[in-house]
Amino acid sequence: MGENETRDATVLRLVGVSQQYGSGHTAVSALSGIDLDLQRGEMVAVMGASGSGKSTLLAVAGGLQRPTSGEVIVEGEHLSELSPAGTAALRRRSLGFVFQDYNLIPTLTAAENITLPLELDGIGGRAARRAAKDALAGVGLEDRGNAYPDDLSGGQQQRVAIARAVVGGRRLILADEPTGALDTVTGEQVMKLIRSRVDAGAAAILVTHEPRHAAWADRIVFLRDGRIIDESRRERAEDALLAGRA
Ligand SMILES: Nc1ncnc2c1ncn2[C@@H]1O[C@H](COP(=O)(O)OP(=O)(O)OP(=O)(O)O)[C@@H](O)[C@H]1O
Ligand SMILES: [Mg+2]
Repeated sequence: MGENETRDATVLRLVGVSQQYGSGHTAVSALSGIDLDLQRGEMVAVMGASGSGKSTLLAVAGGLQRPTSGEVIVEGEHLSELSPAGTAALRRRSLGFVFQDYNLIPTLTAAENITLPLELDGIGGRAARRAAKDALAGVGLEDRGNAYPDDLSGGQQQRVAIARAVVGGRRLILADEPTGALDTVTGEQVMKLIRSRVDAGAAAILVTHEPRHAAWADRIVFLRDGRIIDESRRERAEDALLAGRA
């Protein structure tokens, strides 16, 4: 792989990222000097105790908040150099968030939940609806586009959220405990789906407490008190065996 290809494959780069909340003696260092690179086709699991900084890491990586120091680079764009509007536009174009719950807008149908960010980004109604249809088909819900979130199971809602996260060529999925509210079998289905989107060329950061879900990742990053204390590259084949999906 040439140098250009290597550079192009980098979806997310965090360089010396620190996030402090508050000031003085009540200040909390939620993140300290985080360096992290994420390539296309790569899934990183982030693990760590409650309060270790996992959600803060996702919020900073997704441009929802500016770090106190350090650089966040998404597909070559330095977020610190973008205006708030520019950051919002980049977020809509490149990023998809999947949270533990409260993912979907209850008054919009599944399809409308997916088209909303596209239309905000100026994509015409017809093109947006076609993209939503494809995205729903990609998660096996082609016939549920007109359903409201309340009429879908938890697993189906998370699949819609994943469809929204990847629609329109978004290449970075940021998922914060996306399986937390789901039963074991449905949780595995959601993991499988994120994995398949990554194998199709996206990149993903997955925050999870569950080792068996982290086993779907290529790499596991362990946080403690806002620092990366350990990083392990998983042997995919071995994991597949361990997770019983070989
Ligand atoms: N908006 C905020 N203002 C002040 N402190 C905050 C804020 N958000 C997070 N923190 C603090 O920053 C630290 C990291 O929080 P964060 O939510 O990132 O942890 P987490 O690893 O996601 O925890 P959990 O597993 O419970 O979700 C914690 O000490 C938390 O109390
Ligand atoms: Mg959290």
